Amino acid sequence: MNYDIKHLEEYGEKVIGPVQSDEALLLFSLIRVLRPKTIVEFGYAKGHSSANFLKAASEDAIIYSYDILDESKEIAEKVNDERLKYIHKSQTDFTHADIDNKEIDFVFFDASHNDELNIETFNLIVDHLTEEAVVAVHDTGAWDNSCNEHPGATDGYYVNGWAFPKGYFLNDQKYIHQAGERKFVNHLREHEVGIEQIHLHSSNTFRHGLTLLQKRKVLEV
Ligand SMILES: C[S@@+](CC[C@H](N)C(=O)[O-])C[C@H]1O[C@@H](n2cnc3c(N)ncnc32)[C@H](O)[C@@H]1O
Repeated sequence: MNYDIKHLEEYGEKVIGPVQSDEALLLFSLIRVLRPKTIVEFGYAKGHSSANFLKAASEDAIIYSYDILDESKEIAEKVNDERLKYIHKSQTDFTHADIDNKEIDFVFFDASHNDELNIETFNLIVDHLTEEAVVAVHDTGAWDNSCNEHPGATDGYYVNGWAFPKGYFLNDQKYIHQAGERKFVNHLREHEVGIEQIHLHSSNTFRHGLTLLQKRKVLEV
């Protein structure tokens, strides 16, 4: 079996916005293992995560990807792959008709980073998830201060020579870069008791982090 993962050489670890290369490798593997037919992505941006999904997905899969940036629309329109359906609207305007009334096998949240918008979006999609659907939420981790380029700085966490000012230090060790994504999964933990969560976070490297969600079920024996 040959795996087409050459594109991952172009992906970085010290990036803010797109998925990190290691995360893309993980998502690539998940798609290969699960072979979802219907993938929904919130947050196309410049198409890194989407291109990775396309590389991993089966020939008969469709990736519906949402964004609100004109630049995203322009980039997506140049992608020569009929499996990509770019949808130029907000995640909260999702309708079942957008995805051709299909059931969803895999969802990737990486758009607004706002808990209220994500909860609203989740409520729109939850009835359309298959029983074994996997929902991946990006940016739920905390950046560890051991990987901060200027650990003493107070104007933000330093990555690639500049301070990311939008987050905050939770304590000496952890910098919360997207609180909205963490609040979102915490909300689901509290209110969606039928859904399990696993956090793929690391303190040992600069990591944005992913949380995977799936409906709880007993395996028939
Ligand atoms: C972090 S980037 C996505 C990165 C992309 N998933 C990747 O790995 O290459 C977030 C994107 O979400 C988009 N976005 C922000 N708010 C949104 C909303 N309400 N609905 C849809 N997209 C939104 C932004 O325009 C931006 O392009």
